Amino acid sequence: METEIVPISDSKKQAEDLARAGKILQSGGLVAFPTETVYGLGANGLDAEACAKIYEAKGRPSDNPLILHVCDRAMVDTIAAEVPPMAERLLAAFCPGPITLILKRKDIVPDRITGGLDTVGIRMPEHMVARAMIRAAGVPVAAPSANISGRPSPTTAASVLRDMRGRIPLILDGGPCHFGVESTIVDCTGPVATILRPGAITREMLAEVLGGVKLDPAIVGAKVVPKAPGMKYKHYAPNAPMTLLEGAPSKMPAAFRRQVRLLQGEGHRVGVLASHEVCEALRGLVPDELLADYGAQGDLLTIASRIYESLIAFNDTDADVLLGEGMSDAGLGLAIMNRLHKASGFHSIPV
Ligand code: TXA
Ligand code: MG
Repeated sequence: METEIVPISDSKKQAEDLARAGKILQSGGLVAFPTETVYGLGANGLDAEACAKIYEAKGRPSDNPLILHVCDRAMVDTIAAEVPPMAERLLAAFCPGPITLILKRKDIVPDRITGGLDTVGIRMPEHMVARAMIRAAGVPVAAPSANISGRPSPTTAASVLRDMRGRIPLILDGGPCHFGVESTIVDCTGPVATILRPGAITREMLAEVLGGVKLDPAIVGAKVVPKAPGMKYKHYAPNAPMTLLEGAPSKMPAAFRRQVRLLQGEGHRVGVLASHEVCEALRGLVPDELLADYGAQGDLLTIASRIYESLIAFNDTDADVLLGEGMSDAGLGLAIMNRLHKASGFHSIPV
């Protein structure tokens, strides 16, 4: 199968391309599309056979459920059996936006996509292309991130193509994704809202709207089975093993210089994913192509938006070990640290 990338830009052509995407989805095919978090790999979410193609294209384990994307509030009611008050509040405060709500599902949602659970993840993306595509399809669109299972999620159309070339007919190119990490998943089926995956809607933002919110212990590395099935798999991993340095930002430049020298002394080609401050301190010691500057220390929005593409880019270098810079888990830092911990298999060194 030939995979076509279609840039969504000028308005006349755009309407045609979105209509074409809608037709592909209605006829049981797959379309990759941009959202404000990461690119999704979409199929008709009410068509079990269409969704089976997603699992096949990604090499995704069949017990890992898909989330359904909707274009408006009315579509939520077609798939959710009930919308409890806490979910109504989250819908009002954050939707459309980078959040997924776990709700009790209606029978219309195929068993095949929920991994046998009686719940369904529902997300209303804010991205104009995603919303227009769902509207064109006229059905909820099942979409995981558009990567091969286990690899970093794509935040550009080029990265989608890298993993999905020959597997899907169409990629809608809406440019780079704004946030760069996947949506916050909030389980709304219990007495207290629980974050199953941290994202751009932060724990602090949720607490302000709901009063209280819990964190699934699996997020912070506890050895328990996570409630979001997908969170248990090895994830976001670059080819080379990665270790995180964690500690005070001011200590990072010196700590990195020490650690890089040590590893280079052992004969390693060291790649570094770190702040601008650290990268500047390593110029000359680490070749430029092995230095991935993820933004200034504390500039969490920039860091989040660059992390996956930086991890993907290391796979084109000869780096055989990677060092990453950790940060505080306040605000968006929790989502970034969750991804860095998984990419590094929870290997970290305190500094
Ligand atoms: O930002 C996002 O959420 C992106 C874009 C494309 O919308 N999508 C995304 O989907 O990240 P995916 O499939 O890569 O991650 C969804 C996660 C998985 O870890 C899955 O196990 C979990 O949501 N999940 C899905 N349905 C669930 C359910 N009913 N209960 C608990 N976790 C669920
Ligand atoms: Mg994913």
